[in-house]
Amino acid sequence: MKIIRQPQRMTAWSKEQAVAGGIIGFVPTMGFFHEGHLALMRRAGESADLVAVSLFVNPTQFGPHEDLSAYPRDFEQDCTLAKNVGVDVIFAPEAEDMYPAGFNSTVTVGEELTGQLCGASRPGHFAGVATVVSKLFNIVRPDLAVFGEKDFQQLAVIRKMTADLNLGVEIIGHPIVREKDGLAMSSRNTYLQEEERKSALSLSRSLAMAR
Ligand code: PAF
Repeated sequence: MKIIRQPQRMTAWSKEQAVAGGIIGFVPTMGFFHEGHLALMRRAGESADLVAVSLFVNPTQFGPHEDLSAYPRDFEQDCTLAKNVGVDVIFAPEAEDMYPAGFNSTVTVGEELTGQLCGASRPGHFAGVATVVSKLFNIVRPDLAVFGEKDFQQLAVIRKMTADLNLGVEIIGHPIVREKDGLAMSSRNTYLQEEERKSALSLSRSLAMAR
């Protein structure tokens, strides 16, 4: 498994694969992998010849009082896990490579999709996501990309942006991967105290009951 840090080198790798006829599947992530991430990587591998995974904790999608500096990270373990599920390349840029001095462009998707639910309490979050995902698509140049349905609003925003901007990437949604007791897997679950974790189960239980 290759580890690439520079955007230009990532694009060069992708161009080489495309010339050789390889279909590239892509999974954008912020790292600290769990079974949910690995399921997205396996899904990408089912439809592609090569799987690229980006590992980048994107500062522009965090609000000023959110958990950017505390966000869990374990690069070595992530590389081992990704390698074990057959990932071909990890793209792990530095923030300065993605947002060099003078960077001043933003991709925004209309309020109809971004102004409610999570977007209502996280102003600027989806602009940060749309901007970084469009940059990642331009750098990695995948044929398809897999996103989890856990972040359902994000998936809708990315589908809309990809269609509106003719980005030419097939977007595949993957069902939520849950712990045995029903909690949706998430890197941020490590923040939960025992009591909070218990009460979080009310979400999956209510959904199951409603269904
Ligand atoms: O879902 C995530 O982990 C992030 O929002 C994404 C899509 C990798 C963009 O930074």
